[in-house]
Amino acid sequence: MEDGRKDQAVVIADDWPGYELELFMYPEHYRDDVESVYIPHGVIMNRIECLARDILEDMGHDNLMVLCVLKGGYKFCADLVESVKAQSQSSDRPITTRVEFIRLKSYLNDRSTEDLHIIGPEDLSMLKGKNVLIVEAIVDTGKTMKMLLKHVEKFQPKTVKVAGLLVKRIPGGATKLPDYVGFVIPDRFVVGYALDYNEYFRDLNHICVISERGKLKYKL
Ligand code: HPA
Ligand code: MG
Repeated sequence: MEDGRKDQAVVIADDWPGYELELFMYPEHYRDDVESVYIPHGVIMNRIECLARDILEDMGHDNLMVLCVLKGGYKFCADLVESVKAQSQSSDRPITTRVEFIRLKSYLNDRSTEDLHIIGPEDLSMLKGKNVLIVEAIVDTGKTMKMLLKHVEKFQPKTVKVAGLLVKRIPGGATKLPDYVGFVIPDRFVVGYALDYNEYFRDLNHICVISERGKLKYKL
């Protein structure tokens, strides 16, 4: 990219312990289930404003078809689209956004399972000829993103870009990064801001590291 700023992401170091939970507001029922606040909600929101700015600079000349990857992407997608709209409305050429959804599932407990499913919808023909922005909460192995890109290409969009809030540094991880990356994080299982552990913690607004106790309590 011509603008170096856009190749950057906030990189969180391996030894970042997170903030002490008690410094923040959080749902009381998760008190012992998370170790620390890894990325506070306010920091997530500010970073999303930066991503929205970059997206508008690249794609703001045309209308945007957003494809939200459920369930984990729902908060990121909602906040990203709001920020794109807000920034676009204060420019001289506001764009229109449309949001569609696709549902995937691949994780059981804190492990990625081999069978990755597209739960629906089958038909994405509304993407044809559109500038598509795929919005995903987290990219680790990159398998999901690769499979999804292949699936989306079948519907002949005009362009496809990917926004990932988190990219996890794992051994043998994704070789191709999303076009827009929020944070690059160490290989730790994180929850909150719509990221779940067996469907729990989606209602926590910070991104936190789950505790051993939390893993046991909500294990399947
Ligand atoms: N947390 C929640 N869901 C996930 C994660 C994670 O760290 N990695 C892949 N899916
Ligand atoms: Mg999940």
